[in-house]
Amino acid sequence: MILVTGGTGFIGSHTCVELLNAGYEVVVIDNLMNSKAESLDAVKEITGKSCTFYKVDINDEAGLREVFSKHTFECVIHFAGLKAVGESCQKPHFYYSNNISGTLTLLKVMNEFGCKGIVFSSSATVYGNNNEPPFTEDMPTSCTNPYGWTKLMQEQMLTDIALADKDMRVVLLRYFNPIGAHPSGLIGENPNGIPNNLVPYICKVAIGQLPYLNVYGNDYDTVDGTGVRDYIHVVDLAKGHLAALKYLEKNTGVLTVNLGTGNGYSVLQVVDAYAKASGKEIPVNIAPRRQGDIASGYANASKAYEKLGWKAELGIDEMCRDAWNYASKKM
Ligand code: NAD
Ligand code: UD1
Repeated sequence: MILVTGGTGFIGSHTCVELLNAGYEVVVIDNLMNSKAESLDAVKEITGKSCTFYKVDINDEAGLREVFSKHTFECVIHFAGLKAVGESCQKPHFYYSNNISGTLTLLKVMNEFGCKGIVFSSSATVYGNNNEPPFTEDMPTSCTNPYGWTKLMQEQMLTDIALADKDMRVVLLRYFNPIGAHPSGLIGENPNGIPNNLVPYICKVAIGQLPYLNVYGNDYDTVDGTGVRDYIHVVDLAKGHLAALKYLEKNTGVLTVNLGTGNGYSVLQVVDAYAKASGKEIPVNIAPRRQGDIASGYANASKAYEKLGWKAELGIDEMCRDAWNYASKKM
């Protein structure tokens, strides 16, 4: 049985689909701070199977104990956390408390119940702004905002705990830019308010909720001057977690791997692909660079293939097709 924290969220719900389809029994906890429990109804509609759900905060030690005393978990997939870079700069205390204290509480309860396996959602943000892409896992890490620091600190905490306890099994997954949605259109990413991230913003332009996309800078040293990123289909990303679980069946210690495609696309290339997939015009406005952005970031994805036997299968056209399918049905 697998415990999925943050399992009603964007990546968590897609991972629940893949886990259930692969025959795992799944328990989800989430405090519903950034998602709705109904996403698990959609997961059931897609898979024909149910997860057990508890509305529990990872900071709630007694609540966690109650869940762990009802089930025996082989492993935890830990998605729960706050993820907005801008907000983390406004409210660092909230981010450190939720992401760091929450994870410490979770780890304490896991230890009490003898649960030694964890797959952790880290981010390519830990490569900071001093590395040249493609990023490899052994590059020096650094951060430019509290959100990023919470990821790096959690990586360090998990590494130290695994050094001290030889039975611990840890995979740190550094996600690049997850986009898209389940092809059913039943689950996807629908942030509250004005989206910060590129593809949710483009979706809102395509369905007419926002007038145009601000392109943050067209004077970078890239193919067309706009920022380049490694976009990865959320279904591929979800499958990466299953590969990590399989790895942990046989390995102790810590493994750090990038989950990306290895391909970079510029903002304007994504806009073109989305316009083609949706048949909608996406008007753009060239705006100043966004503070904290790097010119170009994409993965060297070879370690994930070597160690986990995983690689991304879906390309930018499928990512845009499924993002549009979800946006046109649900946003
Ligand atoms: P999401 O916000 O959709 O999902 C996170 C879930 O965690 C939400 O359902 C939220 O309600 C829940 N949550 C937050 N704090 C909690 C707490 N204290 N207790 C219980 N539940 C809590 O985000 P997502 O995009 O699915 O991201 C999942 C994880 O992956 C996060 O840790 C995020 O930082 C990381 N990540 C995401 C991206 C991305 O671009 N989406 C990139 C890199 C890393
Ligand atoms: C952002 C976060 C990163 C986090 C990731 C996933 C910042 C600085 N970085 O990554 O830490 O791990 O989300 O949550 O917020 N863009 C536009 N117009 C927009 C939005 C984005 O031109 O309205 C451009 C950006 O300048 C960038 C690209 O699109 O070049 C991708 O941006 P975004 O989707 O926000 O992801 P990242 O910045 O890579």
